[in-house]
Amino acid sequence: MSAEFNTDQLNQEYQDQTPQQILELAFARFDNIALSFSGAEDVALIEMASKLTDHLQVFCLDTGRLHPQTYRFIEKVRKHYQIEIELISPEAASVEALVKKKGLFSFYEDGHNECCSIRKIAPLRKKLSDVDAWITGQRKDQSPGTRSQIAVIETDTTFSGANGGLVKFNPLANWSSKEVWDYLWMFDIPYNELHDQGFASIGCEPCTRAVRPNQHEREGRWWWEEATAKECGLHVGNIQKS
Ligand code: ADX
Ligand code: SF4
Repeated sequence: MSAEFNTDQLNQEYQDQTPQQILELAFARFDNIALSFSGAEDVALIEMASKLTDHLQVFCLDTGRLHPQTYRFIEKVRKHYQIEIELISPEAASVEALVKKKGLFSFYEDGHNECCSIRKIAPLRKKLSDVDAWITGQRKDQSPGTRSQIAVIETDTTFSGANGGLVKFNPLANWSSKEVWDYLWMFDIPYNELHDQGFASIGCEPCTRAVRPNQHEREGRWWWEEATAKECGLHVGNIQKS
């Protein structure tokens, strides 16, 4: 972390600033910073970031269980912005051991944590150990149960290493879904074709489904589980806060 980066103070200062201003601060203060891209509507962040820096580092956790449409979309974004997108795979031996022991759909019976921790959390932890800060597309309105308190800038207590101090930027925290979509339309930004089929929040294929009109987007994720448990571990700090 850069020496004088006072996370709490800057969070106070920036809580009413635009996502672009928050990103500007992020790139001004951190050289080794990565944007986590899930193949859903947070492509808005890539659009904003691509206007602010030539050194955009983007990664996506390729769980091996994403929709074919999401893979096609990732490729579209890569070409549209002429950027590298690092696709991070889980450790093969861990996936093989889980599948051998419990099959391909153990999450429907045992809950999603075990599978998410192998396919998402362990690879994310490894990636974040190599950077000083990361950027996510989390928004408060994505989940009243777990995300209503997220800060625009915070110390990531879940993924900080022994020295602490990993900074997490959530520039879209205060944006509604509608604001994100207005922005996507305004700049003619590519989006995942699943959104045209009723999908709102998009994760892995077996754990994501379309939602009906006016149904909350989070109801399309891990629908067999309690609303308050619907964090896969990427943003588990949200659960402690809410
Ligand atoms: S999740 O924790 O429930 O899966 P969600 O889909 O709401 O997360 O996305 C919130 C933010 O987490 C995204 O904007 C993105 O920054 C990050 N994220 C989620 N899934 C991935 C992924 N597969 N790869 C990289 N980042 C991701
Ligand atoms: Fe596994 Fe589902 Fe988690 Fe994807 S979202 S890693 S398939 S439990």
